[in-house]
Amino acid sequence: MPVLPEKLPGLLNRPLAIGAKMIPSRLVLAPMSCLGHVAMRRLIDEFGGCGLFFSEMCSAGRIPHETRNTSAYFNWHDAEAQRLSIQIAGSKPEKMAVAAARIEENGLFGVDINLGCSAKSICRQRWGAALLQEPDLALKVVCAVRRAVSCPVTVKFRTGWQDDPGPAVNLARRLEDAGADALTFHPRVAPDRRNRPPKWQYIALVKEAVSIPVFGNGNVFSPSDCLRMLETTGCDGVALGRMAICQPWSFAQWVMAKRFEPQVACRTAMRLLELVGDNFDSGRALRRYRRYTPYLAANFRFGHFLMRKIQNATSLAIIRRVLENFFSLAPEWNSRPNLNLIG
Ligand SMILES: Cc1cc2nc3c(=O)[nH]c(=O)nc-3n(C[C@H](O)[C@H](O)[C@H](O)COP(=O)(O)O)c2cc1C
Repeated sequence: MPVLPEKLPGLLNRPLAIGAKMIPSRLVLAPMSCLGHVAMRRLIDEFGGCGLFFSEMCSAGRIPHETRNTSAYFNWHDAEAQRLSIQIAGSKPEKMAVAAARIEENGLFGVDINLGCSAKSICRQRWGAALLQEPDLALKVVCAVRRAVSCPVTVKFRTGWQDDPGPAVNLARRLEDAGADALTFHPRVAPDRRNRPPKWQYIALVKEAVSIPVFGNGNVFSPSDCLRMLETTGCDGVALGRMAICQPWSFAQWVMAKRFEPQVACRTAMRLLELVGDNFDSGRALRRYRRYTPYLAANFRFGHFLMRKIQNATSLAIIRRVLENFFSLAPEWNSRPNLNLIG
């Protein structure tokens, strides 16, 4: 288990105002499609420490037609509602506004707008990072959402399509003027190349440019990375992505200084198995668990063997047996998650 820098819990375990609401801690879950689902968020919440959950991306057009108890995306557990922002993707201001109003009606914390995803299937529809090439339209979207709701409106964005912080800094100011209550900034160019490190120095520039809170994001894989991001960029909080999935207890460990034994990984993997089974139909539960597997496997020296076995498993019951076997051999931990598996 990594060494916890003494001052980190004190920095993270402080409330932060976002618009008219408060979040209890400054370490938050970054939005991740197929990973930031209701079962994963519940698992993280059972450990504690997460200040705000950003949901996986949801299509704005679909939200008005989704029903909480049957939807795989627009779904939450009661205890997280006050700390859950649903991330919406789209480029039609009216549709985004309608989706935002539906989210607010359900009493959730807020609405997050996706200006960061650079997957081809998303950008082809002018959603996500594609909107960074049309900043005027991006701002229309934010203004429309702002007018539609009074709950916090946040925006997640990235550097843009060129390695130049200028447009991102300029956009950050305009997003604040358009009524955004906080920003999450991932300092990488699109399309995503997670093999190159994010440029944290750009987070400092965005933070300096605005007076709303800024969450830094990108390549935080240890408590000391988190402290370094906070100290070198001045960001108000940190949005944890892949590490939150590799080690869902990180929030409790870094924010609340809770201590965990290595067996926590087995307990976590088993609990998620139960939760996906409880929250999704059997096909989706299996697919969701397979998506999680590289992140679990990345913790261990021979994790790729585990990954392969789970990818081939055809039921949750088989996965349970694979996990029991794997953990009975007391697998050796990697000092940092293996990025070859989760790059
Ligand atoms: C599998 C996966 C799915 C993602 N889906 C989304 C998404 O739906 N919306 C979004 O804004 N960012 C998404 N991201 C980007 C993350 O929020 C985050 O910016 C990125 O992983 C860098 O942070 P990290 O180094 O802490 O993982 C995704 C990332 C991953 C790995």
